[in-house]
Amino acid sequence: MYLSAANHRIPLSDGNSIPIIGLGTYADPSTSSKESCAASVKVAIDTGYRHIDGAYIYRNEHEVGDAIREKIAEGKVRREDIFYCGKLWVTNLDPERVRPTLEKTLKTLKLDYVDLYIIEMPMAFKAGDEIYPRDEDGKWLYHKLDLCATWEVECHPYFTQQKLLKFCQQHDIVIIAYSPLGTCRNPRWVNVSSPPLLKDAYLNSVGKKYNKTAAQVVLRFNIQRGVVVIPKSFNPERIKENFQIFDFSLTEEEMKEIEALNRNVRFVELFMWRDHPEYPFHDEY
Ligand code: A2P
Repeated sequence: MYLSAANHRIPLSDGNSIPIIGLGTYADPSTSSKESCAASVKVAIDTGYRHIDGAYIYRNEHEVGDAIREKIAEGKVRREDIFYCGKLWVTNLDPERVRPTLEKTLKTLKLDYVDLYIIEMPMAFKAGDEIYPRDEDGKWLYHKLDLCATWEVECHPYFTQQKLLKFCQQHDIVIIAYSPLGTCRNPRWVNVSSPPLLKDAYLNSVGKKYNKTAAQVVLRFNIQRGVVVIPKSFNPERIKENFQIFDFSLTEEEMKEIEALNRNVRFVELFMWRDHPEYPFHDEY
């Protein structure tokens, strides 16, 4: 598969296609401004990103939508050039809530459609406006649902997902890797005792060889094996850095060495919900 900055869409079996790199837009709302979100989406589109990964729960879809529409109004891109992924939050998984929730997202984005709409997490919580529902004792309010769920896949050199990737490739299923850089180290979501991926000595030595950073090497590793990556950054330099992955390639041996770094380290364990009846990480994928 030949991938370039100008042409990096990969085909899907329904005739559509998906850009192999997208901008992740999740940032902790308590530490990250909405302005930096809108500015980052605009920098990303100017840089050449055509895939924006958003969600209702990120609480910045309004700004993401404004930024996309601004770039369309400027004539920089057309709507059909942009691939937007939205996500259904866990308090809206009852079938009758899906359509109204999507419509709410479209209204917030002020867009006519999203390109992909996925279930944020296959664990249902009590339906309603409370996004993290708990009872008066602070206990999580889980919700029982017959859930035939899809699930995005954390994927990076410490969690290479060989078995799942092979299965998906055999069945023409494209994987989108979240946390492709090993994610932020926010203890609310992330197991911070895990080893930081971007400090890995081998990844840094490969980076040195190509005059690239460890982040660029890990992103290249995934796109070179056909996995879509959605690194989040609200830093203009890093947004550009993460896109400069089409002008080098890893050798077969380097790909193998990186695969061998796998330690089954899942950074986003969601440990606080491990007693949810549908907690997905007890099972091997
Ligand atoms: P920032 O927004 O300040 O750039 P992931 O997408 O794997 O969840 O990782 C996102 C985290 O990695 C964010 O904290 C982001 O911070 C940081 N990040 C994004 N790009 C890079 C990069 N090229 N090098 C180092 N850290 C990065």
